[in-house]
Amino acid sequence: MKKLQNREEELFQEVLKGKLPEHVAIIMDGNGRWAQKRGLPRLAGHRAGIISLKKVVACAQELGIKVITLYAFSTENWKRPRREVDFLMRLPGEYLQKELGSLIEKNIIIKIMGDLNGVPEFTQKAIKQAVEATQQNTGMVLNFAFNYGGRTEIVNTVKRIAKDVFEGRLRWNEITEKVFANYLDTGFLPDPDLLIRPSGELRISNFLLWQLAYTELWFTKVMWPDFNKMYFLKAIKDYQKRERRFGGI
Ligand code: IPE
Ligand code: IPE
Ligand code: MG
Repeated sequence: MKKLQNREEELFQEVLKGKLPEHVAIIMDGNGRWAQKRGLPRLAGHRAGIISLKKVVACAQELGIKVITLYAFSTENWKRPRREVDFLMRLPGEYLQKELGSLIEKNIIIKIMGDLNGVPEFTQKAIKQAVEATQQNTGMVLNFAFNYGGRTEIVNTVKRIAKDVFEGRLRWNEITEKVFANYLDTGFLPDPDLLIRPSGELRISNFLLWQLAYTELWFTKVMWPDFNKMYFLKAIKDYQKRERRFGGI
């Protein structure tokens, strides 16, 4: 245990010496398989995933990372059995209710992207309360993608732009990549520098389709409930070795 802590501390210090990603996006995947492997119900995996979430938030904050975006529920996750959907719908509310005090204290800004219509009242309230209570904060942005899908986001962006053109606030020939990006749900954020996906799946699953254009991707077979500070630091360490060219040479 002691040895592990030393290694973690060493890695933490190494990572601090390099260039940090400003924005890290994470697909919190593998909860169900983690639970099933232990003979537990899938819901136990989702609950265990909250512990990983807390570990990562704490580490990101210690490092001084500016933004973390977490994929918590996709527009496609409604296809799951009713019981699991109900549980997942309540989880953010529970997490925010319990953690809000400490998040405020840590100067964290809570943001949410995705469609809150169709989300239970209890969860909507907890989310709105957390967003309002932290909007004056100045620290790390903790951005949750909840009932979020990249394609839906792009379609909604097009609708917002079309409306502004139609109502004369924007000219069609003024639409540039930059303007488009500002209309996205992440309009207030820089694109992610690093995407982390645990669980062994090598895909994006409809997450941040526009924003990931030049993001560095990092995959691990570890399931999200087993993800911890050490893996987070490893991902950043690997990121620091990458050469980002953005199409140049
Ligand atoms: C991620 O874990 C949580 C959500 C998608 C909400 P999963 O529930 O997808 O877990 P696996 O992928 O089935 O193991
Ligand atoms: C992506 O995981 C969504 C979240 C983690 C919230 P999924 O488990 O839904 O993705 P697929 O179905 O394996 O692509
Ligand atoms: Mg999954």
